[in-house]
Amino acid sequence: LARLGTSGILRRPNVSYSDLDVHQQMLADQIRTGAFERANTATVKPGDSVADFGCGTGILSFFAAKAGAAKVYAIDDSPIIRAAHRIAVANSFSAVTFFEGKDIALPEPVDVLVSEWMGHFAFKEPMLSPLIKLRDRSLRPGGIMIPRRISFRAALVGDERLHDDLSYFRRRPWGVDFSPLAEWPFAQTPVRRFTEAQLLPGDIDLGHLEMATCSSQPPVLEGSYVPQSEAQVFGIAGWFDADLSEGESFSTGPRAPATHWYQVFFPIPHPVTIKPGMNVAVRIQPFEVTGANNLHWRWRLAVDDKAIDMDDLTYQLWLRSRDKPIVGRPD
Ligand SMILES: C[S@@+](CC[C@H](N)C(=O)[O-])C[C@H]1O[C@@H](n2cnc3c(N)ncnc32)[C@H](O)[C@@H]1O
Repeated sequence: LARLGTSGILRRPNVSYSDLDVHQQMLADQIRTGAFERANTATVKPGDSVADFGCGTGILSFFAAKAGAAKVYAIDDSPIIRAAHRIAVANSFSAVTFFEGKDIALPEPVDVLVSEWMGHFAFKEPMLSPLIKLRDRSLRPGGIMIPRRISFRAALVGDERLHDDLSYFRRRPWGVDFSPLAEWPFAQTPVRRFTEAQLLPGDIDLGHLEMATCSSQPPVLEGSYVPQSEAQVFGIAGWFDADLSEGESFSTGPRAPATHWYQVFFPIPHPVTIKPGMNVAVRIQPFEVTGANNLHWRWRLAVDDKAIDMDDLTYQLWLRSRDKPIVGRPD
């Protein structure tokens, strides 16, 4: 698992799948990889044909080959697939054929389509749309998807210390007025591991995705919360649960053993007090922006008729809005 910084916030550079570290981190995630191994063993029948979308080092393809698949089509658009090919040769996984590229047409329909496509809070990586395209083109009617369902969940964050961490620039560090960027930390979505004590009791159901039938990424994830007692809210924690196959599932949530996905923190700039009887609604919207570092989030916390709307793109656009270096004195 990646290391946490002193504030407990994981600062991860953008993932590059040609780096080895990220593959080690995924392989070493016992909860993730163990669940995929058991799901492959239980699902793939001797003689089946299997596609592995986003094969990385090839591990899920090798599980399918071990389970007796006659043909495994391993697809990836990162050069890591060349390493996967060599690993297949070293281990005599002769059933596996590799396809390097994005938009691959397979030679035949497959019985099983396996893909570990989920990023942080599932959508941090833009793999769902090409996976759906491959499913519609290459999974035979009645074929099986692994995972078969992804559910989205959230909890309200009640730990003031997290808010204090994000308020650093509001406190005039070194006697300097940092107000032009003081609100920026609240418009970021750090990945972190929450403890039970940092959250208000009760999970919020934000809906789910049926992998066999979904036609696109859900445009918004929405749910509501019923306060049991008065509390202050400092933001939202979001995560997903994965149902891989009959009896094989795992949670990436804060109340389950840690996985490398941790949870995503959606902060709000000012705390909100909630009380029993109030309507509390959460809305989280993933969106892709071409040329703006792929996937971003909008989030809303609404209490009765007051809503707080945030996004993690505005400050990035602000920083990139000047095409020439700034020279000159402040106005
Ligand atoms: C989360 S990793 C999973 C790797 C491997 N299946 C495992 O379980 O360890 C996702 C992989 O999908 C690949 N990928 C991402 N987008 C892709 C696309 N559009 N087409 C093909 N491969 C893609 C990445 O290069 C990466 O190796």
